[in-house]
This record gives sequence, C-alpha cells and structure tokens, in this order.
Amino acid sequence: MLSGKGKVAGVIGWPVSHSLSPALHNFWLNYYNIDGVYIPMPVKPEELPEVIKVLPKLGIRGFNLTLPHKELVIPYLDFMDEDAKFIGAVNTVLIANDGTIQGMNTDAYGFIRNIQPHIDGKKNKAVVLGAGGAAKAICYGLIKEGFGEILLLNRTQEKAEEMAAHFGGRVHVKSWDTRNRALDWADLLVNATSLGMESKEPLEISLDMLPKHAVVTDIVYTPLQTPLLKDAKGRGYLVVDGLGMLMHQAVPAFRVWYGIKPEILPELRPHLIKAQGVK
Ligand code: ATR
Repeated sequence: MLSGKGKVAGVIGWPVSHSLSPALHNFWLNYYNIDGVYIPMPVKPEELPEVIKVLPKLGIRGFNLTLPHKELVIPYLDFMDEDAKFIGAVNTVLIANDGTIQGMNTDAYGFIRNIQPHIDGKKNKAVVLGAGGAAKAICYGLIKEGFGEILLLNRTQEKAEEMAAHFGGRVHVKSWDTRNRALDWADLLVNATSLGMESKEPLEISLDMLPKHAVVTDIVYTPLQTPLLKDAKGRGYLVVDGLGMLMHQAVPAFRVWYGIKPEILPELRPHLIKAQGVK
C-alpha cells in the first residue's frame, strides 16, 4: 500500500539492477502492511553529490549504498556512526526529520548476526580471505564479537597489511600462498573475496587442515552454494551462505526508515532466491 504519506527509501548503486534489496525491503513493507516503498536508484558515481543534495528535498527517508558508492558518499554526510567511521564505508543513510544526513554501516552487524548462532564458544581463530571493503567490515565485526585472533590473507598482501595496521594487534597477515596451512586450528573460515561468484573463477583452497568443528562462510551469494561452500559441505563442515548476511544487514536499516524492527521470516529466503532468478 502506498498513499501520499508513504515513506520512501531505496538503494543507490551503479549498476543497481542486480540488487536484491528492493525485493527484501518490499517484502517486509508488504508483510507489515506499511505505507511505504523501496526503490532501486541507478546513480553514476559522478552524479552522486547532486543526488545526495536533492534527496532530502524529495522527502526520502534514506537509502542503502552499494558499489561503488559506499566510500564516495562520506564527504556528503553530517554524521557517521562508530561502525561506519571505523570501517570507512557507509551502506545505510538516514535522512533525519531535521534534514541531516546520517551514515551508518550495518555490514559488520549483518555478518555477525548471520554466523552468531553457529559459532557459539568457537571464537579462538578466524581466517579471513580478502582485503576489500567487505573484509574490513567482517574483521571489525569479528573483533567486536571477541575473536581471539584473525588471520588475514589477500592476493595483494600490502592491502592486507594496511588493513591489519588499521586494526592493531588482533589481525595478523599471512601470504596468500599459505592459505591451505593457515586453516590449521581455525574455528571459522570466511571468503571475503569475489572468487566463486558467477562468471569468476572459484577460490582455490584445500580444506584438509581445517578442523572438523569449523564453520565455513562466504560473502558471495550468486550462486548461493559457491564452489567453496559445496566443497565444505561435502566434507561435513557447517556452512553459512552469504544471503543471510544480506538479510541481517537490512534489519537496522528498515527499522530506522520505517519504524519497525523486521524479522527474518522463513519465507524471506525463498522470496529472495526467486527474485534472484528474475534478474
Ligand atoms: P569489496 O570491497 O566488495 O570487498 P574489492 O575491493 O574489489 O571488493 O575486493 C575484492 C577482493 O577479492 C580483494 O581482496 C581481491 O584481492 P586483491 O586485493 O588482490 O585484488 C580479491 N580477488 C579478486 N579476484 C581475485 C583473484 N583472482 N585471486 C585472488 N583474490 C582475488
């Protein structure tokens, strides 16, 4: 339902046509019978400043940001929450009633909420592959969650070292070539690279050294069962796919725009899988 008083939010990206966020938020709007809508907003990076200036004048409640805007948006914000400041990226913006533009990062929260039920008490060591924006949010989340040690491995080692320096003591870097051995004693393995995504090559890694109790998770959710997750599942590991992170990061955003903390209902996952097929 949408009336003249309807609350409008959306997702800004370039491209944005692959985004599942419209299917996700509109599912909740419909479920909770909220007078509102969530729309895709394809915005070129060079047009972002102009768009950010105009959106508050249109009465928009806020928006999500996806590639390549998560960092580009920062100069145009009036306020950033702690997570966004530390991670250096913003995925959710609230336009407050007084017109101020407030940036948040809910990626770390989404990642942790997605794995939390499965890592109970197993927080000694995590291995994170990748050193892009997603890896940074994930390391931040893992530190907050109390992981003892985080091993970071990235093809371009300098990027991992830069990131580790930003985090201080608990993140240690190993070279990409040692990834098979790095899994020894790990409680959690996270693929935060784009490897395994449709049209990209799979992540090459041997899970032989990974302890049997470990959890394996992937930020890639196209396909849902990445070659890594398939391999891990076949070997009997508990696997957590990336769609859960997407659903969880959306919860605080929906709450600030539409005023209800939405639930991750069992019907949501099949709904998103169906929407993914529609693209
Ligand atoms: P995001 O910000 O979403 O994490 P990104 O910055 O493009 O995206 O990061 C992609 C990650 O996948 C990086 O860690 C990248 O490694 P590099 O820093 O060396 O580029 C990793 N990646 C992409 N293609 C890869 C490949 N063929 N082999 C190994 N790592 C790869």
